[in-house]
Amino acid sequence: MHGAWGGVVPEIAAREHVGAVNRVLAAALAQAQVPWADIDGIAVTAAPGLIGSLLVGVAAAKTLAWVYRKPLIGVHHLEGHLCSALLADPHLEPPFLCLLVSGGHSSLVWVPAWGAYQILGQTRDDAAGEAFDKVARLLGLGYPGGPALEKAAQTGNPKSYPLPQGKIAEAPLDFSFSGLKTAVRRLCEKFPPEALPVADIAASFQHTVAEALVQRTLRCAETVGARTIVAVGGVAANTGLRSRLQTEAGARGWQVVFPPLSLCTDNAAMIGCAGGLRLQRGHVSPLTLTPRSRLALTACDELYR
Ligand SMILES: Nc1ncnc2c1ncn2[C@@H]1O[C@H](COP(=O)(O)OP(=O)(O)OP(=O)(O)O)[C@@H](O)[C@H]1O
Ligand SMILES: [Mg+2]
Repeated sequence: MHGAWGGVVPEIAAREHVGAVNRVLAAALAQAQVPWADIDGIAVTAAPGLIGSLLVGVAAAKTLAWVYRKPLIGVHHLEGHLCSALLADPHLEPPFLCLLVSGGHSSLVWVPAWGAYQILGQTRDDAAGEAFDKVARLLGLGYPGGPALEKAAQTGNPKSYPLPQGKIAEAPLDFSFSGLKTAVRRLCEKFPPEALPVADIAASFQHTVAEALVQRTLRCAETVGARTIVAVGGVAANTGLRSRLQTEAGARGWQVVFPPLSLCTDNAAMIGCAGGLRLQRGHVSPLTLTPRSRLALTACDELYR
């Protein structure tokens, strides 16, 4: 539905949520074969995100919480991504450094304890996933761009075209991907459309992004003394990034945790997981919970007041 427009259309997303929410809920309960009596609480994404979609989910969750007399737990979307690593390794415990790379965010988050977040690096412009989507469009690979670009890159040479990593002198842990995107556009303009070396450009771009992410992550881990690195968000599904990070961190004797591939992009399991952790600590949201299109990860405790 969104593919025809080349990106998510908020109004379409909200309307589709209304149509899908009850069907998805019924299917999930049937598949899990869990009676309501065994459900301890209702977790729901409350912020940040597209407000129309958040409103649909929060209204549904509040209704269920009220009807079934269960605690309501509003979850910060990025805390959900962070907790997706627990779905791969249930024994994961802070402290760890998290590389959070999704469609709207690219951050290095130090997690000394569950719920305590310190942003040590972030993007100055585009998010990594956004860069994948924009470059995929330049290469005529369609939407969603990340998986399509990764597929195209498989047959290309990552050393074909040197591209800028977007280093920021005064902030070595920050990212910048807009210069890289512009460099790819200029490179594309040098070829007639029918002779565009799609695979080589895709491989060079993917290699550059992975290097930018891995180098900053290693540097950050050294600075804070992290011995466990967690990589989450849609871009953490990228096999180029996964193998690069695994190799570099492994060589230093550090542990790396990735969510399962299917749980890197948005999913409900990670929200349930984050909600469960909150509930264990007695964090419950009021039934007056209001979804918010913006909310910093460092302010996520506001959802429990
Ligand atoms: N294999 C892949 N390689 C690179 N990028 C990928 C891959 N798979 C998905 N992505 C990218 O991940 C992004 C989607 O991830 P996610 O669902 O975490 O983002 P979002 O929820 O839209 O953003 P946010 O979580 O920041 O609000 C898209 O930009 C997509 O291109
Ligand atoms: Mg997301």
